[in-house]
Amino acid sequence: MMKNIAIFASGNGTNAEQLVHHFAHHAKARVALILTNRSTAFVLQRAERLGVPAFYFNKEQWAEGSEIVEMLRRYAIDFVVLAGFLARVPDCVLHGFPQRMVNIHPSLLPKFGGKGMYGDRVHQAVLASGEQESGITIHYTNEHYDEGAIICQERCPVMPDDTFDTLAARVHQLEYAHYPRVVDELVSALE
Ligand code: GAR
Repeated sequence: MMKNIAIFASGNGTNAEQLVHHFAHHAKARVALILTNRSTAFVLQRAERLGVPAFYFNKEQWAEGSEIVEMLRRYAIDFVVLAGFLARVPDCVLHGFPQRMVNIHPSLLPKFGGKGMYGDRVHQAVLASGEQESGITIHYTNEHYDEGAIICQERCPVMPDDTFDTLAARVHQLEYAHYPRVVDELVSALE
């Protein structure tokens, strides 16, 4: 049976697009649904272009959760991938996908993680701290920001002449190289 993946994303959606492409001709899984908590998120335009059903839910709907659960059920979702998703996942959704929901964070957790640490802010903090290394962390999600069990970390150097843009681009390349691969391994291993 084909496995169905849902992606939750709040912004640009470049990781979401990489995942859609990766699974476009996959024998075992496909990206069946994209959900967002921002009505203006560019990921909605990407989804339309890619032909993936995508829906926006407002703050109250995300906090309450039942409509999200219903949507995941309607699309027979087996696995949830957070890709730049900056809202809290409702407990009823979390509990419905034990070991079947993952997140990516653009730093080597536990460094530069936690509430308020996302996207661009992470790279700015890394540069300000003088770290010589950054990277990505792919982990299971739980009730706490950036604290679920780590599945994999990949590293890249921080160069002395790095700007925010050059570091962000290097970390994004790591994300594109590894997130689809890791999600593929996890989804392909599902019963
Ligand atoms: C990615 O770098 C992802 O790691 C980060 O948001 C960016 C989304 O980019 N996620 C977090 O910071 C989560 N705490 P994208 O919308 O282009 O995929």
